[in-house]
Amino acid sequence: MVAGGFDRNSAERWLREIRADLIAFGRKFIANPDLPERLHIGAPLNIDDPTTYYGGGEKGYTDYPTLAQDRGERHKPCVDQSWR
Ligand SMILES: Cc1cc2nc3c(=O)[nH]c(=O)nc-3n(C[C@H](O)[C@H](O)[C@H](O)COP(=O)(O)O)c2cc1C
Repeated sequence: MVAGGFDRNSAERWLREIRADLIAFGRKFIANPDLPERLHIGAPLNIDDPTTYYGGGEKGYTDYPTLAQDRGERHKPCVDQSWR
């Protein structure tokens, strides 16, 4: 498992070339709570704002829009409630 500066293309290339079993995303996940959906359909990504990293409250961690929100749909929790 590796992380560090991957995007969709480089992650797919590393997996295809069996250089890693799993690619982790950090900053792209912070800015895109629906990152798997965006990568799956090739949607554009929100750009992360590094000034909101490391403290200062929830801004920059809970307020990046999802594709569903952009479409005007109600927010869907990303955690299956049966796990709580
Ligand atoms: C705001 C922020 C907080 C992070 N917190 C952690 C952490 O608590 N533990 C950890 O192992 N890595 C942490 N990381 C590192 C990420 O997991 C990841 O390794 C790093 O961002 C590189 O991947 P990326 O290029 O996809 O962002 C953090 C990164 C950022 C930007």
